[in-house]
Amino acid sequence: MGPNQGFGGTLWMIFLFALFASGSGENDRDFKMCGTWCHGNGLLTLAHDLKRGCGTITISANESSLSIRGEITAQCENSSVIKLDPSPGARERHFCVYWEPLLDQLWVEVNGQNHTLCWPSGLQGNCCTDLSQGSNKGTSTYGILNATQRDDIISYKTHPAYEFFGEIINCKNKFCDEASQGSGDKVNMIEETVMRSKVLGNVVLPCALSSVVEMKEGFQGYNITLPAPQGVPPQMIPSVHLPSCLKPPEKKKVKVVCTYFKNSTLFQGCSKVDQNDIRILEDVVGITVENEIITNLPEPIRIGFHHSVIPTSHSRKCVSWDTKKDPTEVTWKKEGCETIQKGGEDTECHCNHLTYFAILVQLEPRPVRHLVALTVITSMGCAASTLSCVVLIYFLNTQRRAKDQSTAVHRGLAMALFLLSLFFFLTGTVANVGGNRACWAFGAALHYALLSSFSWMFIEVFHSFWLVYMVFSSSPNPYVWHLVGFGLPAVPVIVLLAIGKVYGVIEVVSSDDVNNPYLMCWMDVSPRSVGLLAHYFINLTFLAVVVISGLIMLFLVLRNIQNRDEWRKNKVAFLSIWGLSCLFGTTWGLGFLDFGQLSEFIPFLFCILNSLQGFFLMLRFYILDRMRKQSRSSLDGSTASSTRQHMLQEKS
Ligand SMILES: *[C@@H]1O[C@H](CO)[C@@H](O)[C@H](O)[C@H]1NC(C)=O
Ligand SMILES: *[C@@H]1O[C@H](CO)[C@@H](O)[C@H](O)[C@H]1NC(C)=O
Ligand SMILES: *[C@@H]1O[C@H](CO)[C@@H](O)[C@H](O)[C@H]1NC(C)=O
Ligand SMILES: *[C@@H]1O[C@H](CO)[C@@H](O)[C@H](O)[C@H]1NC(C)=O
Ligand SMILES: *[C@@H]1O[C@H](CO)[C@@H](O)[C@H](O)[C@H]1NC(C)=O
Ligand SMILES: *[C@@H]1O[C@H](CO)[C@@H](O)[C@H](O)[C@H]1NC(C)=O
Repeated sequence: MGPNQGFGGTLWMIFLFALFASGSGENDRDFKMCGTWCHGNGLLTLAHDLKRGCGTITISANESSLSIRGEITAQCENSSVIKLDPSPGARERHFCVYWEPLLDQLWVEVNGQNHTLCWPSGLQGNCCTDLSQGSNKGTSTYGILNATQRDDIISYKTHPAYEFFGEIINCKNKFCDEASQGSGDKVNMIEETVMRSKVLGNVVLPCALSSVVEMKEGFQGYNITLPAPQGVPPQMIPSVHLPSCLKPPEKKKVKVVCTYFKNSTLFQGCSKVDQNDIRILEDVVGITVENEIITNLPEPIRIGFHHSVIPTSHSRKCVSWDTKKDPTEVTWKKEGCETIQKGGEDTECHCNHLTYFAILVQLEPRPVRHLVALTVITSMGCAASTLSCVVLIYFLNTQRRAKDQSTAVHRGLAMALFLLSLFFFLTGTVANVGGNRACWAFGAALHYALLSSFSWMFIEVFHSFWLVYMVFSSSPNPYVWHLVGFGLPAVPVIVLLAIGKVYGVIEVVSSDDVNNPYLMCWMDVSPRSVGLLAHYFINLTFLAVVVISGLIMLFLVLRNIQNRDEWRKNKVAFLSIWGLSCLFGTTWGLGFLDFGQLSEFIPFLFCILNSLQGFFLMLRFYILDRMRKQSRSSLDGSTASSTRQHMLQEKS
């Protein structure tokens, strides 16, 4: 250590403080000393004498020579005197001395021209860095004026020489620390540095393991063997195949760096996917070609990942890091890579561009098993329901009592279910054909139809409750029913449309084929979205209100009429209303609740029952109609018929 260490240390602290305060993006391993060299008129030379070790480096200047001598390098030994271009008349030149200890590279820039005194030779483990400033001897006419270190001024005076003392540290560790701090753009630094280190073959860092391959003319594709970290068997390491089309044809030879990150923590700090339901697996592979941005490869890069077993209920997808969008907050995107599942422990990614690749394991929404079968069942059920509703609406309109209250209520329900089953039937097609804007409107329409169906179910139940319970008051005007059944559900839908981003294309991922999800137009219910909130506060609340109030009314009605005559006659009619309503509520409930691994059977039950709602409604109507005709013929001649009994019959 030098004699002025105390002073140097203080200066270093100030310097560090300035560095952090200014938020300088430079690596604090690296050294950059600049100044103005005041020289004479004569011949100018750049003299250097560099030796291995870690001691003092002296940067000095006199009338004719700028000289750099000392022991700071790890590998490089070089000394000579270079003649500099004369510049008649000029008495001063700007110069900078750069030292990158990780690469063991030292170069001097004089008058805008770079002279490399030490070329990089691989990445150094222990290196001499953290250069702290020692003495600067006296002042003079010739020498170094306005000296700066890393853009911080050391002195405004002209000094003949500056001395700096180095310290040995582990450069690789420090480098990895720097790369892992801050945001995504720092990760690029690893590959850039490996590229600059001029090595071919393997480069081992604590945070990453790289392999550098040179693609020459006639490149036929290559299987990269990545170095394995200590204690990791080679078969656990990702395998990478470079296709022949990776080499840009216009270049004679070009290097490609393939980097394996054993620990994806480097990528998680700034990525958007650190949600509970999505996880990036540990291994990340980055591939870059020297000075090229590669996209749309005709033959894909193949990266094989080996990982712990992923159960079939969790979808996995190859993703790539979208560094272009915003380098500080990087997102994993799914486009551009194809996922090939090779059993539970292996996944191969075929990607058409270069960046960082990883596997995203999605835990929720769980991929649906037997998606194709469920889709077919639902489509058929919805078609049957739609037709049934048409038949039912026609029938209700041609009935004798087409203007009756009860008929109006039945018709409302049939209409709502008609819309629901029709929209549900078409949602897949619209999502695939119509694009995002069409899907936005269609998702809203589907949501409206669902809420309207809930409303009409409620009205059905409430209407019969009114007939039995409100003995002396007349039932509300049909306009009220229509307002509640068709008007009320529009309110939340319009609000959600105004909020925007709620409706749109959503993907239902099949566990059998993750690359081809089923698309539908619906609400975006991904975690932490407005859609999910709306789903809880509107759909589930609505459903709960309908089911609970239905049960309460059922209980009250049963208590009221179980001893009356008319109950015995109209038992079936009553129970059918509530039966259907409960079926409706429960099946939608089934769909909303999460059964997890519990059952493979539930989704089938849900799809079958739900998509057939309209059909059940028609069936019920048909049976009750026949029953009424039978009971009317048996009642012929009977005179005892109260108004309310009549109404109850009408209800059915
Ligand atoms: C200037 O410095 C160089 C190298 O340090 C030395 O060889 C030379 O003699 C010096 N010239 C004068 C005029 O002092
Ligand atoms: C010399 O090196 C510096 C530092 O890397 C760089 O900023 C500068 O552009 C280089 N100058 C020339 C002429 O290449
Ligand atoms: C030694 O320095 C000269 C410039 O003086 C440079 O051209 C040469 O490449 C250097 N040698 C090594 C091994 O770095
Ligand atoms: C040295 O720095 C001072 C103060 O910033 C400035 O006025 C002067 O022009 C500089 N001299 C040269 C040669 O850059
Ligand atoms: C690369 O590995 C694959 C198997 O993963 C093999 O089929 C292919 O022949 C290999 N290619 C080369 C150039 O070694
Ligand atoms: C990954 O790195 C972080 C911090 O560097 C460490 O806390 C974590 O344990 C590492 N994980 C594995 C699996 O090595």
